[in-house]
Amino acid sequence: MTSPSGSAASLQALPPLRRDPAPLERVFSGVQPSGLPHVGNYLGAFRNYIAMQDGHDAIYCIVDYHALTSTHDGEAIRRNTHEMALGLLALGLDPERAVLFRQSDRPEHLELMWLFASVTPVTWVERTPSFKDKKRSQPDDINHALLTYPILQAADIAVYNARYVPVGKDQAAHLELAREIVRAFNTRYGDIFVEPQAVFTDSPIVRGTDGGAKMSKSQGNTIDIFGDEADIRKQVMGMVTDTQRIKRTDPGRPEVCNVCQLHRFFSPTDYETIWDGERTARTGCVDTKRLLSERMLDFFAEARERRRELEARPGYVEDVLQAGAARLAPVAAETMRICYDAAGLGPRA
Ligand code: TYM
Repeated sequence: MTSPSGSAASLQALPPLRRDPAPLERVFSGVQPSGLPHVGNYLGAFRNYIAMQDGHDAIYCIVDYHALTSTHDGEAIRRNTHEMALGLLALGLDPERAVLFRQSDRPEHLELMWLFASVTPVTWVERTPSFKDKKRSQPDDINHALLTYPILQAADIAVYNARYVPVGKDQAAHLELAREIVRAFNTRYGDIFVEPQAVFTDSPIVRGTDGGAKMSKSQGNTIDIFGDEADIRKQVMGMVTDTQRIKRTDPGRPEVCNVCQLHRFFSPTDYETIWDGERTARTGCVDTKRLLSERMLDFFAEARERRRELEARPGYVEDVLQAGAARLAPVAAETMRICYDAAGLGPRA
């Protein structure tokens, strides 16, 4: 991704809708409080969150309404919301340069979702891949919110009329649907919203420790960023490598080995030497994994330390989240005013 230059301006000074000239392009993204931050989140999305907080009007959200589609444990949602916010702040999200907030502190997301639902054909949401996946993965809890999930995601972005959405590739279908929903709304009510665009990193799909599936909490194949050192080492040492490399003397194939692929990011200056060692069987998979765990721990050492510091500041995370939601209030209110006016809700303006 490219990071245009320029300094972040006060968010409240910016008008939310495209007929107004916005000095900075707006960015929005969201993460579910469904677990702890992992390496897939970071490489696929979070590093772009951090890069895009400069030169953009960046807004990031812990989407707790979304998490209700799969978790009905209130304590877990609250704990993970806190952890996810703490993790993002430790990784470099700066509340002076970007807004971080909790979705349920800005209920306008739900209001706009309803307006969007009224222009979204049922077939669009029924065919969403994530809905089909969830029907398989939680067959005893196919709740209505699962179906509505992508409409809420479109509303999350549009409440702030964001143009760019840094996400991993697994979100591409949701982003495409968000564009269609916004287009349908604009067709019905006028040129109100910009069509949001996904922004990917150069590792848009990070595979998990099993070497096959996308890294995700629900697959149990994550490498945690803020876990205990011993646990992180264990997660890395348990990674599946090149399945065709059976004996230590067999040459490895770094192009297919997930451990080697992760070295591209965590060993940027010498990953080619590491790959060469694998190709020539000079090094074994265990050596390459041990090195990866060291490099990852080095890479995240500062963030892990910062997380400890922030954790020791009582109320800090909550203050950041609430200040973020308060900053966004006028933007969300203005969007809803324009939409209510266009849709004929409330008294004539
Ligand atoms: P979520 O919570 O599953 O993931 C948060 C972000 O991390 C990215 N990501 C990955 N990228 C690459 N490889 C992986 N293995 C990997 N795992 C996770 C995700 O793509 C995502 O960018 N539906 C969204 C949350 C959401 C949202 C939004 C996003 C709700 N409203 C509005 C953008 C805009 C989700 O469940 O992400």
